[in-house]
Amino acid sequence: MANQSNSCPFPRTFLLLLVLLLAMTSQGWASDLFPVDRQTFPYYPSLLQYPPPQAEFTPPEVCAECHSRQYEEWTSSVHALAFVDPVYQGELNHAVKAVGHDISRQCEGCHSPAGVVTGEIRGAGLNGLSQMALAGVSCDICHSVTAVTHCQTPSREPENGSMVVTPGVARGDQIVLQKYGPNPTTELCGMEFHECAESPLHLRADLCASCHQVYHYETHFPLEATYLEWKHGPYAQREILCQDCHMVDIETFRRSADRFIKPERHEYRHYFNGANFLLYFLAAQNYTQTGDQQRAENAMDKFRMAVERLQAAAGLEVMPVYRNRQLSELKVRVKNLRAGHNLPTSLTNVRQMWVELTATDATGQVLVSSGHLDPKGELEPETRNLNSEGMGDNFHFAIDPWVVTAFSRHDTIPPKGYKEIYFGLLPVVSKGEVQVSVRLRYRQASQKVAEKLLGAVPDDIDLEKTYGLSAVPELPVVDMAQVATSFPAMEGD
Ligand code: HEC
Ligand code: HEC
Ligand code: HEC
Ligand code: HEC
Ligand code: HEC
Repeated sequence: MANQSNSCPFPRTFLLLLVLLLAMTSQGWASDLFPVDRQTFPYYPSLLQYPPPQAEFTPPEVCAECHSRQYEEWTSSVHALAFVDPVYQGELNHAVKAVGHDISRQCEGCHSPAGVVTGEIRGAGLNGLSQMALAGVSCDICHSVTAVTHCQTPSREPENGSMVVTPGVARGDQIVLQKYGPNPTTELCGMEFHECAESPLHLRADLCASCHQVYHYETHFPLEATYLEWKHGPYAQREILCQDCHMVDIETFRRSADRFIKPERHEYRHYFNGANFLLYFLAAQNYTQTGDQQRAENAMDKFRMAVERLQAAAGLEVMPVYRNRQLSELKVRVKNLRAGHNLPTSLTNVRQMWVELTATDATGQVLVSSGHLDPKGELEPETRNLNSEGMGDNFHFAIDPWVVTAFSRHDTIPPKGYKEIYFGLLPVVSKGEVQVSVRLRYRQASQKVAEKLLGAVPDDIDLEKTYGLSAVPELPVVDMAQVATSFPAMEGD
């Protein structure tokens, strides 16, 4: 299927020898883990390529003149917000200070590829940037992708922005814009604004892969592995792609996930809707501040869609465990019903998905309580969090992607799989029923991390003016699934 890894030009053994040779002839092999041809990858550590004739990119508002439906769908999507996202800007600001701009360009290669090739982005901040750079992952990024490289990448898979973007082609001494799409070209295609080319790549997950497979810039540790989680799972085997769940409405996504039926061609939409409800909410606040009510509603529609998608993603079951006839434990099974990759995925060491559980006996005594938020919005200790935890070289807990070089814990749930968590109960004294309530809860980050990132936005983003926020509010939480039930305290009662 969509895997070309076997068709790379030179054999692995050759590459291995080359790596070994380079490792031996240089000091510090870590930085030479991947011998980089800077001519091929001028934006390294981003593996983005922008070969001649380097035609200019076109901002999405121009595409909108003829493709208004796609524009409407893409507007306020996470892709449209990928660069202006205040959470991203806060972290980019930290990155530039920590490792310098040459290295943090890696971030921009995925969050604003056009801003990288024009060289206009010099760090965090939005002032003075072109419309195209601010537009993040916009129309002309995806529809100028002519290839993704996997043969020359360290993992031999698409990764770290390893796409080739070619917005135009040379015809004699003229440059004409050429756009790559899923359909066979027609006579009128592009109406003389652009030419069209049929692109099988746009009908494959590889188009998404180079940005949705993120490695550490130096040690090459896989920080975000959505593409490979998908590729090694049941959906890839059945040819259900990223597009089949994220470029369709909720009903169609459920059908793709439940029955492995591919959407009809006319059902595709440019929503790129995932789990990040917080970002849509912030965007809506921003549009309200600027008086653009229509866009605010557009963003809130996407907010609701993300919440619905999260609620369709997981299932929850609770089972009693008896010892000597006494109810002694509760077994909670969390199922990944409809995510095409692990649940949660991507920034798993930042996202939080946890089980909140309370059990009380007939007298009202609490037998177990876990996963509640304290008054500061933090999770209580020992919360069962089904995310991951990152660490640096020194084995200490870390969040920042330039520090994290391993996971000390990785508890995400594979596609169509499940995880079981046991909760021990205090000895049951009274007879009668034990009441149990369980929720699977999700938020984008811990309160502390959100405060750290939003607190670090560059000077030209004013949280109060842009988002109407005078302080970072308590982060909203979505309940993905819940169960309320009861079990007899004594088996057989
Ligand atoms: C290979 C592509 C790629 C690179 C390189 C990359 N990112 Fe990202 N980034 C993504 C994707 C894809 C997501 C969305 C993941 C998700 O939603 O869980 C993301 C999400 C984020 C978020 C979360 C945004 C939010 O609103 O919650 C932050 C912050 C972020 N990236 C910062 C960075 C920084 C800083 C760097 C550089 C050190 C970086 N990224 C490098 C692809 C990339
Ligand atoms: C993240 C990548 C991505 C971005 C951003 C993107 N597209 Fe697409 N686009 C696709 C893919 C993939 C398809 C094919 C969907 C399918 O299987 O039919 C597509 C299909 C299309 C089509 C064919 C008709 C259709 O809707 O399926 C047009 C026209 C189009 N895009 C225009 C645009 C415009 C205009 C924008 C910006 C407002 C845009 N695209 C943004 C990836 C993208
Ligand atoms: C002057 C009008 C016009 C503008 C501006 C325009 N397009 Fe198109 N484009 C068309 C027409 C007409 C078609 C053929 C019918 C269709 O697919 O909508 C087309 C087709 C496409 C296709 C092929 C879709 C497929 O079915 O495979 C893609 C991709 C595309 N355009 C992307 C873009 C992008 C990206 C921009 C902005 C950089 C853009 N277009 C700007 C008129 C335009
Ligand atoms: C040029 C890089 C790039 C390409 C290509 C790309 N993405 Fe993304 N995508 C990103 C980044 C960066 C983010 C996160 C932005 C942020 O959170 O600030 C993201 C976010 C998303 C999200 C939202 C996640 C959430 O948390 O809600 C979905 C869904 C998604 N992408 C799907 C796709 C699909 C499907 C494709 C292929 C058709 C694709 N992406 C191609 C860079 C890319
Ligand atoms: C069978 C449907 C399905 C397929 C296929 C699928 N996804 Fe998802 N995806 C989901 C669901 C449901 C969620 C929300 C739950 C979650 O966060 O995992 C999601 C969430 C995401 C997120 C947001 C993660 C976060 O925490 O913010 C990203 C990014 C993403 N998907 C990208 C992709 C990419 C890239 C592919 C292809 C390699 C893909 N998805 C394939 C269903 C799917």
